[in-house]
Amino acid sequence: MTAPASVSDFREGARRRLPKLLFDYVDGGSYAEATLRRNISDLEALALRQRVMVDVSQRSTSIELFGHKQSMPVVLAPIGMGGMLARRGEVQAARAAQAAGVPFTLSTVGICDMSEVAQATTPPWYQLYMLRDRGYMGALLDRARELGCPVLVFTVDLPVPGTRYRDRRNGLFGGSNTSALSPRRVLDGLSHPAWLWDVHLNGKPHTFGNIASAVPDARGAAEFWPWVTNNFDTTLTWDHISWIRERWPGPLVLKGVLDAEDAREAKRCGVDGLVVSNHGGRQLDGVLSGIKALPPIADAVGDDVTVLMDGGVRSGLDVVKALASGAKACLLGRAWAFALAAQGEKGVASMLDIVRAEMLTALALTGVPDIRDVNRSVLAL
Ligand SMILES: Cc1cc2nc3c(=O)[nH]c(=O)nc-3n(C[C@H](O)[C@H](O)[C@H](O)COP(=O)(O)O)c2cc1C
Repeated sequence: MTAPASVSDFREGARRRLPKLLFDYVDGGSYAEATLRRNISDLEALALRQRVMVDVSQRSTSIELFGHKQSMPVVLAPIGMGGMLARRGEVQAARAAQAAGVPFTLSTVGICDMSEVAQATTPPWYQLYMLRDRGYMGALLDRARELGCPVLVFTVDLPVPGTRYRDRRNGLFGGSNTSALSPRRVLDGLSHPAWLWDVHLNGKPHTFGNIASAVPDARGAAEFWPWVTNNFDTTLTWDHISWIRERWPGPLVLKGVLDAEDAREAKRCGVDGLVVSNHGGRQLDGVLSGIKALPPIADAVGDDVTVLMDGGVRSGLDVVKALASGAKACLLGRAWAFALAAQGEKGVASMLDIVRAEMLTALALTGVPDIRDVNRSVLAL
């Protein structure tokens, strides 16, 4: 692979290196994937305002988020099964994030558990779903707090999972093609020897680390998935926020808000932040893109709630567009997953370098040297 110059190069690297089943898992969205495409095309359609004759010799991308300084307004989003993309993948990505000075968020359904990540780096942000088994959920919250995870990302857009046709066809989480020994799966693995060596042979265990004790006999995704889907709590309402608050004194960020009315309710419940997100186009297909949903939400909550955004962010220019539309920072999902799959820790580090360099260029050419000053005037509306 020639040196990747952009996130789309990392996507191509991931496509070559991963078995099709795993590439489809990362790359795909739900149903007809309309929202997945919209996340990207709506960002593309947004025009920046080019300005000239401004002294841009000194530029800064640094911000402060939830009381911590970071090098740029970027957070690595929670990605389930990151450890299937590269050996102990969450640890590699968290290391790259730490070196680049940005937070890493560990998914509930990560392969590495929170202690493995916290031993290798500073404690990650921790993402949790509302689990029916409150005892188990409470214990996870206690562990995250004791480990020193600085921020809890509480994902609320998954009371039921959206159907992802690619995963269903590939039998990733069940169905007739599920057996790891099916000829198709074996061939898929054998035709990707670098992944086979790095992850399949040397990256074990492939359990969902954080919830491994809940499903002691499970060895892979297909065996964990029934527990996970049975445990998504369909009774989740705003009343449950107080239950979490009692157990989590630190910053609480609600992930998966797409509507201004919900954002107002989140503010009323006293959350510290929210992520305007459609789960990367993996839940309800046909909803608004993250970037389109963002401005009314930012207006609705003002400065009382820290508004983050994700969905389709593939470059530093996209980050600047999101900030101009009202976000304080962006979560990067597939961008880091592709980089990790293509080149491991080195890939994630280089992807973050690329995104920061793009951001610096965007600041220079929009004539705004300090990223904290980016606002709607940066857009050509
Ligand atoms: C492969 C994959 C796995 C994901 N797993 C989780 C997860 O475990 N928890 C969660 O809150 N969001 C999860 N998401 C959603 C991301 O956190 C994020 O919202 C989304 O990827 C942003 O869109 P982008 O990929 O276009 O950047 C996942 C997304 C992908 C692509």
